[in-house]
Amino acid sequence: MVDGGRLWRRLSELAEVGKRESGGVTRLSFTQEERAAKDLVARYMREAGLEVSEDAAGNLFGRREGKATGAPAVLIGSHVDSVVDGGNFDGPLGVLAGIEVAQTMQERGVETNLAVEVVAFTDEEGARFSFGMLGSRALAGTLSPKDLEHEDRDGASIADAMRAYGLDPEKIGEAARPLNSLAAYLELHIEQGRVLENEELPVGIVTGIAASVWRRLVFAGETGHAGTTPMQLCHDAMAAAAEAMAVVEDEASATGSSVGTVGQLGVEPGGINVIPGRVEISLDLRDIDEATRDQVEDRVLERITQSCERRGVGFETEVLQRMVPVSCSQQVRDAVLAACEGLGLRPYDLASGAAHDGMQLVGLCPVGMIFIRSREGVSHSPDEHSSKEDCQAGANVLYETTLDLASQH
Ligand code: GLV
Ligand code: MN
Ligand code: MN
Repeated sequence: MVDGGRLWRRLSELAEVGKRESGGVTRLSFTQEERAAKDLVARYMREAGLEVSEDAAGNLFGRREGKATGAPAVLIGSHVDSVVDGGNFDGPLGVLAGIEVAQTMQERGVETNLAVEVVAFTDEEGARFSFGMLGSRALAGTLSPKDLEHEDRDGASIADAMRAYGLDPEKIGEAARPLNSLAAYLELHIEQGRVLENEELPVGIVTGIAASVWRRLVFAGETGHAGTTPMQLCHDAMAAAAEAMAVVEDEASATGSSVGTVGQLGVEPGGINVIPGRVEISLDLRDIDEATRDQVEDRVLERITQSCERRGVGFETEVLQRMVPVSCSQQVRDAVLAACEGLGLRPYDLASGAAHDGMQLVGLCPVGMIFIRSREGVSHSPDEHSSKEDCQAGANVLYETTLDLASQH
């Protein structure tokens, strides 16, 4: 069994890095907060007896060799960046439980055929550049120089931010791992939904991961005097955006499975007595079925285009990122199932509504995930919580599964 007390202490300590008054954290990629979080994690990795390194994308690794040095690794981990005012478990749980697994192996003198590597990926959330899973894409070798042009709200590109952080964007390709270097990727994460809580279960086995498309939508109207412009002469960009938001809600709800969210809104010029001339909103649209999501997307864009024509408002949109849903590997799912059974936990399958780094790694190695129960399903919020007991239960499943996978030849 892992040391649940040590895991909980580290979770609490990491929660102090980038802490906000709300009790949540903000750790955006390539910032001092994210650096400080990785430094603390590196310290834990050393305490666990791991060989610590960082790659060209800033991904942090702690490696424990198998019986033969240089063997392929079972990679376990998650991320330590967060959304703005996010919770203390989304990401840190998977990284710190990974370290706990490796440290427990170290303390027990366990020998495995394969290496075990713990990872803290760079920028899983995409909160800063509206483009996520940067570290795992780099590992998979799928990042293009164009991807590094995504900008944050201050106009700094990913490449600029990397340079300021001490990384060379030109060298990002060096982070790519060769095909045979990883035997599997396994991530422990909070569910971020209510399914396990409703089932009164601490742990679940992830079957697959739903995929999002992220878009920027720009409405170009005509700025004018709010008092003197008759309604029929208004070309109000904000009113067009408001109608677009209602369309998103309507079309996503109609499927029963898709979810659509507008989480960002920028209004220019932003005066109380000025007709908005330019409005920018974001769109996050997801489904476990890619075709369903894409149909919703098509209908949404068609209806917004029609509404903007009627209003005399210009409409432009661009894709920020487009994911493909993935299925978890049967081999890894079977190993998680055996671990659950061995620990006396009722095995329970569920899909992930949230995105995770494993999505980027399916071309590189078998991918699987373990979920633990989230209190009231809340996540991306300071109120995100999972109990110490559930964190420990999840870490024990991670331990047994990792041991199983790392025992392969
Ligand atoms: C990340 O948590 C996402 O699902 O967008
Ligand atoms: Mn996460
Ligand atoms: Mn998240």
